[in-house]
Amino acid sequence: TRTIAVSGTASGIGRALADLLRAQGDEVIGIDLRDAEVRADLAVPEGRAAAVEAVLDRSGGVLDGVVACAGVSTFTPATVRVNYFGAVALLEGLRPALARAERPRAAVVGSISGTQPVDAEVVAACLRGDERAALDLAGEAVERGAGVRLYPSSKAALAQWLRRGAVTPEWAGAGIPLNAIAPGVVRTAMTEPLFADPAMVRVMEEAVPMPLHGPAGPEAVAEALRWITGPANTHITGQVVYLDGGAEAVLRGPGL
Ligand code: NAI
Repeated sequence: TRTIAVSGTASGIGRALADLLRAQGDEVIGIDLRDAEVRADLAVPEGRAAAVEAVLDRSGGVLDGVVACAGVSTFTPATVRVNYFGAVALLEGLRPALARAERPRAAVVGSISGTQPVDAEVVAACLRGDERAALDLAGEAVERGAGVRLYPSSKAALAQWLRRGAVTPEWAGAGIPLNAIAPGVVRTAMTEPLFADPAMVRVMEEAVPMPLHGPAGPEAVAEALRWITGPANTHITGQVVYLDGGAEAVLRGPGL
């Protein structure tokens, strides 16, 4: 049996992944604000530390996988707290437990939004690990009406963090692949209010064109996360894999 810690298991993609892993016999340690083995708030440092400690406790200090799914998409600094600092703290805090396993794997959930315009200062502060500065800058962005950039900024920073970190002695050197699955639009609680509004549906279709099959179900993302954090993935690392019905190819064109 593999033991995998997954954040965001109370809903959407995290829940679908937990279901898939449990169905194949893995032990899942879910982390969420509610309805999870470990209840913790990944928006704040104390909550992140408590989550790491509780997962280490439950797993006996050895983990085969860690997947950071928890996220929010508000136009507020909370988006940076959870999506970037929450995910990074979880992965860094649990990395030693991964290093003790035989075939450890790690992944985060990115987003096609990470390819959209960002607040470069917020991204830079995230990558410096300066949460205080990142949140101040995010607050300023909200005040000047640029809160819409915070979600793309949080996901772009997460993608840059993993591409940088994946190839270091701590991750690649310890035999731990670290990747992102970056969805286009997925039907979950996060997007439910958008799908309920025809005007927003048109905005989404324009911003994230998905010529292959349209918006995905959470199971599609869960399947990719399962594979990329499974033992069969021996050589993919440092990648942001777009699971987006072709949106990234449409938006960025054929150049690599
Ligand atoms: P969801 O809203 O269904 O699930 C998110 C989960 O994260 C919830 O259970 C929530 O309680 C948990 N969470 C939020 N803040 C937390 C905190 N402070 N501490 C602990 N847990 C917290 O959303 P969904 O769609 O399943 O999102 C999962 C990931 O997928 C997120 O990182 C999101 O940014 C990403 N994503 C979603 C897309 C979509 O269209 N739904 C598209 C691209 C990326």
